Amino acid sequence: MCPVDLFSSEPAPAERAADLREQLNHHAHLYYTLDAPEIPDAEYDRLFRELQALEATHPELLTPDSPTQRVGGRVLDAFTPVRHAVPMLSINTETDTEPTGARNFDTRVRRALGLAEADPPVAYVAELKFDGLAMSLRYENGVLVQAATRGDGEVGEDVTNNIRTIGQIPLRLPTDAPPVLEVRGEIYMRRDDFDALNEKQRAKIAAGAKGEKTFVNPRNAAAGAVRQLDSGIAAQRPLSFFAYGLGEITPPEQGGPAFETHFDLLMQLKAWGFPVAEQTAIATGADELVAFHQRIGASRDQLPYDIDGVVYKVNSLALQRRLGFVTREPRWAVAHKYPAQEQLTTVLAIDVQVGRTGKLTPVAKLAPVFVGNVTVTNATLHNEDEARRKDVRVGDTVIVRRAGDVIPEVVAVLPEKRPEGAEVFTMPRQCPVCGSDAVREEGEVDYRCTGGLFCGAQRKEAILHFAHRRAVEVEGLGDKLVEQLVDSGVVKTLPDLYRLGFTALASLDRMADKSAQNIVAALEKSKQTTLPRFLFGLGIRHVGEATAKDLARHFGQIDRIMGATVEQLLEVNDVGPVVAQSIRTFFDQPHNREVVEQLRACGVTWEEGEPAAQAPRPLAGKTFVLTGTFPTLSRDAAKDLLEAAGAKVAGSVSKKTDYVVAGAEAGSKLEKAQSLGVAVIDEAAMLAMLQA
Ligand code: IVH
Repeated sequence: MCPVDLFSSEPAPAERAADLREQLNHHAHLYYTLDAPEIPDAEYDRLFRELQALEATHPELLTPDSPTQRVGGRVLDAFTPVRHAVPMLSINTETDTEPTGARNFDTRVRRALGLAEADPPVAYVAELKFDGLAMSLRYENGVLVQAATRGDGEVGEDVTNNIRTIGQIPLRLPTDAPPVLEVRGEIYMRRDDFDALNEKQRAKIAAGAKGEKTFVNPRNAAAGAVRQLDSGIAAQRPLSFFAYGLGEITPPEQGGPAFETHFDLLMQLKAWGFPVAEQTAIATGADELVAFHQRIGASRDQLPYDIDGVVYKVNSLALQRRLGFVTREPRWAVAHKYPAQEQLTTVLAIDVQVGRTGKLTPVAKLAPVFVGNVTVTNATLHNEDEARRKDVRVGDTVIVRRAGDVIPEVVAVLPEKRPEGAEVFTMPRQCPVCGSDAVREEGEVDYRCTGGLFCGAQRKEAILHFAHRRAVEVEGLGDKLVEQLVDSGVVKTLPDLYRLGFTALASLDRMADKSAQNIVAALEKSKQTTLPRFLFGLGIRHVGEATAKDLARHFGQIDRIMGATVEQLLEVNDVGPVVAQSIRTFFDQPHNREVVEQLRACGVTWEEGEPAAQAPRPLAGKTFVLTGTFPTLSRDAAKDLLEAAGAKVAGSVSKKTDYVVAGAEAGSKLEKAQSLGVAVIDEAAMLAMLQA
């Protein structure tokens, strides 16, 4: 027998598996916890697949701390109860969000320790209060053996399979970790992960998936993921973890570590690979607690995850022991809250607001609620699709969120609180301001009022557009003046502009006589305009300067344009169905027509012309095929000429072909024409036909 392995460079499978695990655990820590990967994802995947393959061929090598166990897959009927070796306590919550919250805690601690005013300040550790769910991670001999929820504090649930899927949680600890170590901390979901998850959920729902739902907030999404019986699903939910304390740990007498302070133990947890929030700091005395509360409060919205407060803990573990517990809460810790960013309230009405450009926006009117430090009474529902998606109805109880300076939003409806008979919201088909038709064009999310010239909401915009340099041009009629004219009620519609006299203008605030005279003159001058400028000035959606020119050239007269059917409009150069419909709808609004009439009555004029003569289309209905090289025309030029004359130019010869135009070196098309008996002509004959 030859001992081949002695000379082989291949390590034994067990050795290779251990090596792969170590590498993968190391890189997972760099990637998930330190956010500083050292190898590309593809390399990680390669190592991962190698380990998977190795474990598949050598099942005896599979260990519970193997990174391959992170992917989940096991499906349970129920979770097994777990009795916590050390109960998972809760902490006293200071709901006073003002600095007094911190000072009161410090006072209580000092009193309980019997400290006099002159005694030195107490050192605390100030931490973030993560808005997730508490978790206890048990490691035996350095291997993660169990993850349990808090439950009632005494007995939780075994969610190990799900927790193993979280990249930030070490599956194996460095060798200096004690034989028994329970790490306590918070499972949470980052906001960006939450948004992406909901986006995915929405896509699934849109694709018709049954039993899928979106999540109300990151906390709910995290809780749902942790309590997933199918760990394969849990593995797809992006969870994160922060460590903030200990449960059971091997005592110093048995070789466990002897910590003196809470801060030291957190730093040790960090060294063992657990994520510890970087904001964690030592704060000495009440003033520093207050400063921490304020500093974190100010930057709260920049954190990538939700917190609902901060937590203060007496740093010295000896002092913690002296302070002990009241009922089930430690006297040495407190949670100091921030104002809630989410609150429940009810929807009193859903109003539809019309913007300056005619866009309709549904807005939920809410029973006033104090959230994110302000009283909120309105929340935009953005548009029809968004309102439908959230299915907000009048009478509903909703979760309102306001974080930082972000505008308040309705996060979700509580369906179980919906009053009977609450009706589905529908967008109005008429503008709530002016009554004109509101339309939603294909491919757009917004409804728009089509009464641009008349609608009170669009007044300022309509006037500014009309007065624009490239429209009828009223020099000096800018933003500020329009604002003044409309707000004072002097100008309600465009024609009112031409009814403004010197006196009305001069009586406006900050309006010098000279300026008023200039405006009067500019208005007078603007009356003499052109049809394209006037048309463009009406502000019809999709009618820019070029289209206005095309329309003017094609129809010559405004009345013809106002009366044109969609089909007739479609005959205009570059006017497609959307533009044609938009023009038609605009002039279908009686108020818009009225404004045009009044403008004319006020003396706005332009030269009208005859409609551009219809180009003769002598070859309408005829189909041509071109082949070979022509004596004078290129193939493209010939095609253009034929099409301009109304003919269709096809690529191949069939029975439906009327003429084949053959030039030099005509090929198979000519033969085909001859065999089908299709008329064959030359360039000269074709040109003659075009003259006809
Ligand atoms: S310490 C004995 N620290 O808040 C002290 N808890 O009732 C045990 N929480 O659900 C808790 N951030 O999951 C502690 N930095 C932090 C925390 C924190 C969030 C949660 C915890 C528990 C609740 C406290």
